[in-house]
Amino acid sequence: MTAGPTPPPTIQVEEMTVHFDAGRAGFWGQKRLRIHAVDGVSFHIEKGETLGLVGESGSGKSTTGRAILRRVPTVSGRILFRGEDVTRARDDALRPLRRDMQLVFQDPYASLNPRMRIVDIVAEPMIVHGTAKNTSEAADRVAALLERVGLPPDAGRRYPHAFSGGQRQRVGIARALALRPEFIVADEPVSALDVSIRAQIVNLMQDLQKEFSLTYLFIAHDLAVVRHISHRIAIMYAGRIMEVAERDALYESPIHPYTEALLSAVPVPDPEVQKRRRRIVHTGEPPDPLSPPAGCRFQSRCPLVVDRCRSEEPPLADRGGGHWAACWER
Ligand SMILES: Nc1ncnc2c1ncn2[C@@H]1O[C@H](COP(=O)(O)OP(=O)(O)OP(=O)(O)O)[C@@H](O)[C@H]1O
Ligand code: SF4
Ligand SMILES: [Mg+2]
Repeated sequence: MTAGPTPPPTIQVEEMTVHFDAGRAGFWGQKRLRIHAVDGVSFHIEKGETLGLVGESGSGKSTTGRAILRRVPTVSGRILFRGEDVTRARDDALRPLRRDMQLVFQDPYASLNPRMRIVDIVAEPMIVHGTAKNTSEAADRVAALLERVGLPPDAGRRYPHAFSGGQRQRVGIARALALRPEFIVADEPVSALDVSIRAQIVNLMQDLQKEFSLTYLFIAHDLAVVRHISHRIAIMYAGRIMEVAERDALYESPIHPYTEALLSAVPVPDPEVQKRRRRIVHTGEPPDPLSPPAGCRFQSRCPLVVDRCRSEEPPLADRGGGHWAACWER
């Protein structure tokens, strides 16, 4: 028996760029201001894989996730879902995509409508997409989903305020699963939760991934959160990807100075190792998103900066073994 052709990755992003209009400047308003939220970003995510996307606030993580879901328009580049170009897909073509690609939000307090019962919240996408006529027709499926995400049997009849943050995030996950999606953007799904319950939610997401063959883009602003769940990790800074690698390669042999700084902030379980470890704190401001500098975006904070970094932007280059990094000096 010969192996069939390799299936395309679930998600492939090629040179994706997203800018936001920020009004006009100049005496006559002659200059249009644009926020360079995402600038020429490329990566792929295989079926059943979790790509962790990590970077500090404002680096463009959420915008990247939302652009893939076609919730914000791209300026240029391509987005492929299961090998099909969906960059310019409109209404009819977008509808099934909206079913197959879902978003789990950061804030489980703000993302659930406080006036809706849990059963209606989880049934809503089924009704909108016509897989159920009304809540009672969806009731069995909703009950099974709520049970699967670890909520008590009477959860459906109650309102969001009756639940803790962790339980609300379970509702958010049940809702995201309601249409049996293939791909989920989880945008900092545990950042707003107590540290003590983060692992439970991450474990749940991991179990669901196996059970439903889900593909995840898992966004976080620090490297501690994504280690457990990610197969590979991409590091983002000021709208660009600085490094991508298999999880263990990234933690054990990081290449980019920014990745090193992020790693130095991750707590180590052994207190002796923790004591010896050098915490790298970068001084300097991140670049202005309205006018990113020529050259490397990390230049204003990089301890290794050389002249070339101020004029030429380092490409994200293949370092072997699936490890890619964008730096002239490393
Ligand atoms: N709808 C919008 N309109 C204008 N600017 C936006 C919009 N959304 C994001 N931005 C800007 O784009 C840049 C990237 O924002 P984004 O929310 O993607 O970052 P992030 O990495 O998700 O940050 P955080 O960790 O704070 O969530 C920021 O400068 C932000 O202010
Ligand atoms: S290219 Fe230059 S400024 Fe950028 S990370 Fe590398 S050494 Fe630092
Ligand atoms: Mg964000």
